[in-house]
Amino acid sequence: MSGRERITDAELIDMVNKWPKEVREKAMEQLRALKDGTMRAWYCKRGRSCDGEPHAGYPYPHARGDQWPPPGRDWRFWFLSGGRGSGKTRTGAEYTWRMSDRTSRIALVAPTGADARDTMVEGVSGLQFVAARNGQRIEYEPSKRRVTFPNGCIATTFSAEQPDRLRGPQHGFAWLDEPAHYPNVEEVWSNLIFGLRLGDRPHVVLTSTPLPTPWVKEIQKRDVTRVVRVSTFANRKNLAEEFFAEVVDQWDGTRLGKQELYGELLLDVPGALWRDTIIHREKVEWEDLDRIVVAIDPAGTANRRSDLTGIVVVGVQGRNAWVLNDSSGKYTPTQWARKVIELHKACEADAVVAEKNYGGDMVAEVIRRAVRADEEEPRILVKQATRSKQIRAEPVVSLYEQTRVFHWGNLAELEDEMLTWVPGEGDSPNRVDALVWGISELMQPAREAHIFSARGRKMRPKSNRGYDPRDYRRSA
Ligand SMILES: Nc1ncnc2c1ncn2[C@@H]1O[C@H](COP(=O)(O)OP(=O)(O)O)[C@@H](O)[C@H]1O
Ligand SMILES: [Mg+2]
Ligand SMILES: [Zn+2]
Repeated sequence: MSGRERITDAELIDMVNKWPKEVREKAMEQLRALKDGTMRAWYCKRGRSCDGEPHAGYPYPHARGDQWPPPGRDWRFWFLSGGRGSGKTRTGAEYTWRMSDRTSRIALVAPTGADARDTMVEGVSGLQFVAARNGQRIEYEPSKRRVTFPNGCIATTFSAEQPDRLRGPQHGFAWLDEPAHYPNVEEVWSNLIFGLRLGDRPHVVLTSTPLPTPWVKEIQKRDVTRVVRVSTFANRKNLAEEFFAEVVDQWDGTRLGKQELYGELLLDVPGALWRDTIIHREKVEWEDLDRIVVAIDPAGTANRRSDLTGIVVVGVQGRNAWVLNDSSGKYTPTQWARKVIELHKACEADAVVAEKNYGGDMVAEVIRRAVRADEEEPRILVKQATRSKQIRAEPVVSLYEQTRVFHWGNLAELEDEMLTWVPGEGDSPNRVDALVWGISELMQPAREAHIFSARGRKMRPKSNRGYDPRDYRRSA
């Protein structure tokens, strides 16, 4: 054909008749979908300037400009750094659908195997949904971790928990959902990149709320990376009102909200005592812990700017400590007392740790009064603060630096307070205070020997001997 002449109808029919039967059927299916309106294009003709609202030719919501791939072909990594519900997963699925026409092997990586299935493939924004909107179907074989596209392209799902599986197979394209949250992302990434070598332009889309980890900072800095930021607010029209209200309510106006709602990478705060690079995440089984304490720093005592009561659960195993739960919140005294009693019971803690200073034994008194008749009164260790908060926190920071403190569970707000508290600039936040009390209690240089019961279960040490006399004066 010379130039771009239109082919005649007769030529077209001739061409179509030469197609194999399956291809013809697929085309018919697509035409039918187009005609009855079930086929809905994602990328519209307006391109990156479109706001995704319905308009002529596209009478339904579709891709916003910020959901388009970055322009040009000189990038390898498209990091879609978005707020919660901003449309990250949908963008990843839609682009993966397009990529299935350009490569024969795709890797789909999720935090866990269940996430790969429930979010990336079968989820409300996943590949099955996207295929259906194109009037087509994908074949999904969970046991083989395999998605087969209508044209035969194969995508394999991977769990970040099994990075070794990425060693070996080759891919022409990869989609990683929420990679900033894989605890072992470095290993996942190096295995993936090694096998990313099919075709003329293997590349990756990463859809994630960001987290200021070394890996995220490093990948976002690379010159082959394009970072696209999308806010939750941009996708408001497509979100359930309850979801939107809930997320916004939780995060708006906070520093962490910049990350959770706007997809911004939070930078280090100069002078902050903790640095994000030393918060290690690692799992631990509750029953393996030697001791567990609930530490509380109540709001409303003198000289406190915060009206938040810090409540943090910390455990110890051998030489290491685990921070396991942060239930801090705005509570009345009765409410925080109940919270502490319930946590003490639920976590099988052996003590509650509180600071004596301001209110005297107020904390112990409030807790004792909140204990119900059928409940055992928790052992309460009241600590006297004799040194400044910073001096008290420093040994705890050192433990983090020695990789002897691990975090497990949702501790985002506690971590944010740790990473932003600049000693000398205002009082330390109550979450941090509770954390420091809890870890100091558990990580004593001279710890007691463990006592075992007849059943082999470790028993709780009865006294609280062994405090560093420089930091604590034992309470009466
Ligand atoms: N441009 C869009 N048009 C219509 N619906 C959209 C658009 N972008 C996202 N959505 C929908 O919004 C909801 C949230 O998107 P999702 O990708 O799951 O968010 P995230 O992964 O960022 O939390 C999903 O139902 C998704 O299909
Ligand atoms: Mg998602
Ligand atoms: Zn449009």
